[in-house]
Amino acid sequence: MASNAILFITLALFNFSCISLAFDPRPLQDFCVVDPTGTATCKDPKTVTANDFFFNLGPGNTSNSYGAGATFASPATVPGFNTLGQVFVRADFRPNGYTPPHTHPRASELNYVLEGMIEVGFITSYPDYTSYSKILKAGDVFIVPVGLIHYVRNLAKTNSVVLVAFNSQNPGSIFIPDSVFAAKPPINSRYLAGAFKLDENTIKDLQTKPWYRFV
Ligand SMILES: *[C@@H]1O[C@H](CO)[C@@H](O)[C@H](O)[C@H]1NC(C)=O
Repeated sequence: MASNAILFITLALFNFSCISLAFDPRPLQDFCVVDPTGTATCKDPKTVTANDFFFNLGPGNTSNSYGAGATFASPATVPGFNTLGQVFVRADFRPNGYTPPHTHPRASELNYVLEGMIEVGFITSYPDYTSYSKILKAGDVFIVPVGLIHYVRNLAKTNSVVLVAFNSQNPGSIFIPDSVFAAKPPINSRYLAGAFKLDENTIKDLQTKPWYRFV
């Protein structure tokens, strides 16, 4: 009996861990286009058109201090993306453009370089902090595992263009320096000075920087 109970608990925990590791749920219908009126969960299928699944993904606006910009095909811009577990992004980088270290807590990130040359890398979790990086040229693919801190920087003398696919309809983005130093209300500067092994004035200076608030 005791061993049966242990088996049951083990199976129950295994089942629970499978649920907690699951990605976006599988759809229960052909599609669930976002209802623009917000009155229903899904738009009435009789009113759905091909345009609900269509989008023209133009270049991102790189006129910012990062020299990087992205356009998104997601449920927010393409109502038909709703419930399909995907987001598709075009990222543009000026020469020396980059994205700060960041994570996507709910999606792996598949990068495909369309033009130019970039370095992309990710870092494994505590306590190893192993970094894996590659220099990618047009046609190259690199995948960043879900949740890990990663970065991209443009190495080309020209613009680089990267197409990015996420396996969640809401990957989430946590920009590390930005979220730590732009937090409102601010995080205690003496605490941050200890954590970052910097003097408190440097931290206070960092907290006044115009941190970019990505979408
Ligand atoms: C790009 O961003 C800059 C800075 O926010 C803005 O002034 C400019 O109008 C934007 N350009 C386009 C084409 O949206």
